[in-house]
Amino acid sequence: MNTNSVHLKISDVSKRFGDVQALHNVSLNILKGSFTTFLGPSGCGKTTMLRTIAGFYEVDQGEIYIGDRLINQVPSHKRNAIMVFQDYALFPHMNIGENIAYGLKLQKLSDHEITAKVEKTMQYLGIQGLEKRIPGQISGGQQQRVALARALIMEPEVLLLDEPLSNLDAKLRMNIRAELRQLQKRLGITTIYVTHDQGEALALSDQIAVMNKGQIVQTGSPWEIYYTPVNTFVADFVGTANLLEGTVISKDSGSLKVAIDEIELRIDEPNETLAPNDAMTVCIRPETIEILDTIQDNPINTVKGEVLNYIFEGSHIRYWIKVGTRTFMVDVFDPSEKGIYAGEIFLRFHPGKIHILREE
Ligand SMILES: Nc1ncnc2c1ncn2[C@@H]1O[C@H](COP(=O)(O)OP(=O)(O)OP(=O)(O)O)[C@@H](O)[C@H]1O
Ligand SMILES: [Mg+2]
Repeated sequence: MNTNSVHLKISDVSKRFGDVQALHNVSLNILKGSFTTFLGPSGCGKTTMLRTIAGFYEVDQGEIYIGDRLINQVPSHKRNAIMVFQDYALFPHMNIGENIAYGLKLQKLSDHEITAKVEKTMQYLGIQGLEKRIPGQISGGQQQRVALARALIMEPEVLLLDEPLSNLDAKLRMNIRAELRQLQKRLGITTIYVTHDQGEALALSDQIAVMNKGQIVQTGSPWEIYYTPVNTFVADFVGTANLLEGTVISKDSGSLKVAIDEIELRIDEPNETLAPNDAMTVCIRPETIEILDTIQDNPINTVKGEVLNYIFEGSHIRYWIKVGTRTFMVDVFDPSEKGIYAGEIFLRFHPGKIHILREE
């Protein structure tokens, strides 16, 4: 199998529990060695998707392939896809060494081989020295690594991770996030990750599949998902968005003029579908809006506003700024440079940084 070849193919998969359509015609191709994330709110079907791939649920409809092999009917332990559970699911009465060795014991490897592999894997994950303790005697972050070690030692073709970082504190989560990505790249292991944390999804993934109510709403790179969301759900779920409904005034090649209440904006984004008088919604990210103290000669896309409120976040300040009847969120990075804005100011919207959402 080459890199860039499809390693896992999910084709039109549906799964129902009673009245709940947990998965609804889900299709996705996952490349070999890539890191793919299913991202979505609680209850959207992420865990169900992962369990379906792992072989804990049978699908009602559709096919799942690993390489050329249709795995719908292949039992879980023969899929070579290993799942790490959100709560780690370590065996509480076995020590860490035994926990990690468990799968190899079942495979009847020699004690000598097992000891060598456990040692190597623990070293790899920076948890050497913990062999003799039981899970209750190590920290959450260490348990997380043990769970990962227990999966990695089996050298699975596909690694399935269900919100593995959600029980850790913010700082540790950031560190392990970076380590996990490095490890995944180093091993080149095809990884499918599930989270409701958009920051995690953006930071880790080659590909993100945004889910809502059992369906994939958008698939793309983190960049595509963040800058060109297909609808207000994705725009709002991933990052912070100023979402504004307006009307098209006129159209040129490669640019549109739109009215959002009394605000007139030029948008430099080619659009084939919209015509004058059409209603549309735009998405403007808070960090793309500029705050100016003064303006000269009425430059384009500049409006007068009033600072309503702000919060200091260290690296940036988030402002709420009133323009007519609308309130915009604006992020100003490195506040030490500009101080804190108050009272009347001007906002400038970059014509190339306003995204038109294509939904009805
Ligand atoms: N075994 C089950 N029996 C019945 N309903 C289930 C079962 N597993 C999941 N569901 C339902 O299917 C839907 C999807 O659940 P799933 O666990 O996949 O969501 P999720 O996206 O992982 O959510 P979370 O972020 O809260 O973990 C939910 O409405 C859930 O209640
Ligand atoms: Mg879940």
